[in-house]
Amino acid sequence: MKIKSIALKNFRNYDYQKLELDDKLNIIIGDNAQGKTNLLEALYVCGFGKSFRTNKDSDLINFEEETTTVKIEIEQENGYEQAIEYRINQKNKKEFLVNGVNITKISELLGTINLVLFYPDDLKLIKDSPQERRKFINRELSHISRIYCLDIIEYNRILIQRNELLKKIFYQPAFKETLDIWDEQLALKGAKIIVKRMSFVGLLNDISHEIHKNITSQTENLSINYITSVKNLTNYDTIKGDLMAGLKKNQESDIKRGFTSVGPHRDDIDIKINGINIKSFGSQGQQRTAALSLKLSEIEIIKREVGEYPILLLDDVMSELDHKRQRDLIYTLKNVQTIITTTDVKNLLDDYINASKLIQVKNGSIQS
Ligand SMILES: Nc1ncnc2c1ncn2[C@@H]1O[C@H](COP(=O)(O)OP(=O)(O)OP(=O)(O)O)[C@@H](O)[C@H]1O
Ligand SMILES: [Mg+2]
Repeated sequence: MKIKSIALKNFRNYDYQKLELDDKLNIIIGDNAQGKTNLLEALYVCGFGKSFRTNKDSDLINFEEETTTVKIEIEQENGYEQAIEYRINQKNKKEFLVNGVNITKISELLGTINLVLFYPDDLKLIKDSPQERRKFINRELSHISRIYCLDIIEYNRILIQRNELLKKIFYQPAFKETLDIWDEQLALKGAKIIVKRMSFVGLLNDISHEIHKNITSQTENLSINYITSVKNLTNYDTIKGDLMAGLKKNQESDIKRGFTSVGPHRDDIDIKINGINIKSFGSQGQQRTAALSLKLSEIEIIKREVGEYPILLLDDVMSELDHKRQRDLIYTLKNVQTIITTTDVKNLLDDYINASKLIQVKNGSIQS
């Protein structure tokens, strides 16, 4: 799948702008605050129906205007062409059209075009709390499994209810009678989630290990492991049994603390390079490369699921990789349409620059 062109009207700091994209590499160059990330954001909204940096759709409209319109043309590998268009007005109302037909649910939009974005915030995946890594796994898995997505929603609903009950029991111990019922429910869904996550992390480990080797000239071994309080991971029943036992064992302390201390909502993934945990011991470049390897794995997983490579958007990441890693990356991405931003083309490898369409952005305008 490739994006042929994008047209923006009153999007962020752009007035009217049309841009044709190269099938392979595109580099958006410009000083700070000129509109590079805005351009990626305009594309991202076509794929996900919302921005990655604001929840308020009207933020996307130029300060001086009432509405914004973005239109992109895409082409699938079989030559099939499609157009996605969206309009947003100041009342936060948005409309999406695929080939001119209005779509009512964002879920109908998902999958029309597959995009993978890597931007500086993605380092959180490595550096921040387990919550960020769980969010990553949940998002990735929800993409490829609707059942998982529903299981997570249901699990969280049960968890909220159990936590509310714990607080009630603290003041009125008689409520404790019903706690076992919630433990059973939670363990039932929780075990399903752990089974799916374990198999997904296994796949992610295989793919990202390979990619990471390729972008570090075979010098680094990346490994990812699922970390859970469950000891017996043999199958669904043993996981469920372990979860039940853990919940029961911690009932008293959970009541004191007012929250549930055992279950997949507390799990994590451990990310290592050459056997060493990189959250604590990795260099910045290693952390960035590892985050990138995980993101690039997403490309491979989408390719396996839908049969076509998605489009890769890289915001401000290339220039922070040394030239050797950049060279390895070009090779890894040879079949993927890539759009990258940078403030200084000097930081980029010549091979990159020569193979790319260069797009200069200045003050919300593309210089031709
Ligand atoms: N709704 C809007 N209307 C007009 N201008 C906006 C709007 N939202 C953001 N801007 C402006 O867009 C400018 C460019 O933003 P963008 O994030 O694309 O910069 P950038 O080129 O990626 O810069 P950097 O290299 O610092 O990341 C900012 O100066 C910001 O003030
Ligand atoms: Mg930017």
